[in-house]
Amino acid sequence: MKNFDFQIQTRIIFGKDTLKSLEEVLKDKYKNILIHYGGGSIKRSGLYDEITSILEKINVNYYELGGVEPNPKLSLVQEGIAICKEKNIDLILAVGGGSAIDSAKAIGIGAKYDGDVWDFFTGKEKIQETIPVGVVLTFPATGSEMSTATVVTKEEGSYKRGAGGNVVRPVFAIMDPKYTLTLPDEQTFAGIMDIISHIFERYFTNTPNVDFIDSLSEGAMKSIIKNAYILKKDTQNYPARAEIMLSGSIAHNDLLGLGREDDWASHDIGHEISAIYGTTHGVTLAIIFPAWMKYVYRENIDRFAQFGREVFGVKEDDDRGKMAIMAIEEFENFLKNISLPTRLSDIDIDEKNFELMATKATEAGPLGSFKKLYKEDVLEIYKLAK
Ligand code: NZQ
Ligand code: ZN
Repeated sequence: MKNFDFQIQTRIIFGKDTLKSLEEVLKDKYKNILIHYGGGSIKRSGLYDEITSILEKINVNYYELGGVEPNPKLSLVQEGIAICKEKNIDLILAVGGGSAIDSAKAIGIGAKYDGDVWDFFTGKEKIQETIPVGVVLTFPATGSEMSTATVVTKEEGSYKRGAGGNVVRPVFAIMDPKYTLTLPDEQTFAGIMDIISHIFERYFTNTPNVDFIDSLSEGAMKSIIKNAYILKKDTQNYPARAEIMLSGSIAHNDLLGLGREDDWASHDIGHEISAIYGTTHGVTLAIIFPAWMKYVYRENIDRFAQFGREVFGVKEDDDRGKMAIMAIEEFENFLKNISLPTRLSDIDIDEKNFELMATKATEAGPLGSFKKLYKEDVLEIYKLAK
């Protein structure tokens, strides 16, 4: 196990009818609030009205900026930064999923910086401070409500890049699973893939002696798979929605990464697809992860055998390679059972941009740590995902 330093500042208020806590969370603490949201789902569900009526009751000044698209764009972030500077915003309230939260986080860091906010995404600048971000979560997937990251797409050149730091974690997140009942099926299951992939990026490690966190991760994966199957049968199952919502935050708040080297190659390889085609994040992961697994499992066959045994009940066998392959097959079957695409051809993407995507993905150096991936490796993974 490696040394670590771990602190999470996010206050989580979880459960049915917890939105009313917003009053207590905000009152007498913030004067000028920017509500930041997506394309309108919060208006259709009535959540927008509920929130604005609380804000009116506690007498704060509030401004709004909607229109965050999935895979949020830099141009809207820049609009938000201008509003924050002009109106002296002291809290950005993101209402929605990862895109609204990430856009809010980027606005928060950009508003406290004199240069171009993209400097944080290229690694030119380190994040020092932010306007605090609060969250009302409607979509469990990215874990952005507790995570250190923000991921934004710069339209010019189609670059989807992340920036991060502990200061970026939201100060609070209100999470009522009832608001997730309106999610379209495709989003629900893409979100579940994203959640499980945040565990994978940490679980597939070569760091030895990480038994305790392995056990938590394996238990978490089993629970996510079980509840995914419940939702596949009945998307309106509230207890399963609640389990998935909680798992989304825990999967990506770094708890399950303690003391180990993490990977993130699959995320980076997937981001190149979203940057060019606008593909849903979780869908890119359902396509890339099986290909990545097939490409890298020989680096540490025992870890994949353990994954198979602990998560899918693959029988112990002297041939660990066989166990590893069975584990990958079990996982791919799970994805098919919840109707996620597992090949680029399933979503009509051909090899035209493979070379470009592999070049862009490795521009800043090789990806991952489980197996270091250079441009040629990334290209092979796109081909395996074809
Ligand atoms: O925009 P609206 O109208 O709100 O609709 C959204 C959007 O179309 C809809 N939606 C959200 N909640 C809903 C709902 N529809 C009905 N009922 C609800 N309750 O769902 C669509 C997708 O929303 P979005 O926020 O884009 O999805 P997600 O939460 O998956 O966020 C994806 C973004 O987060 C990034 C991804 O790369 C992607 O850009 N990630 C952020 C991470 C982080 N900050 O730590 C980590 C992740 O690995 C990921 O990279
Ligand atoms: Zn993700």
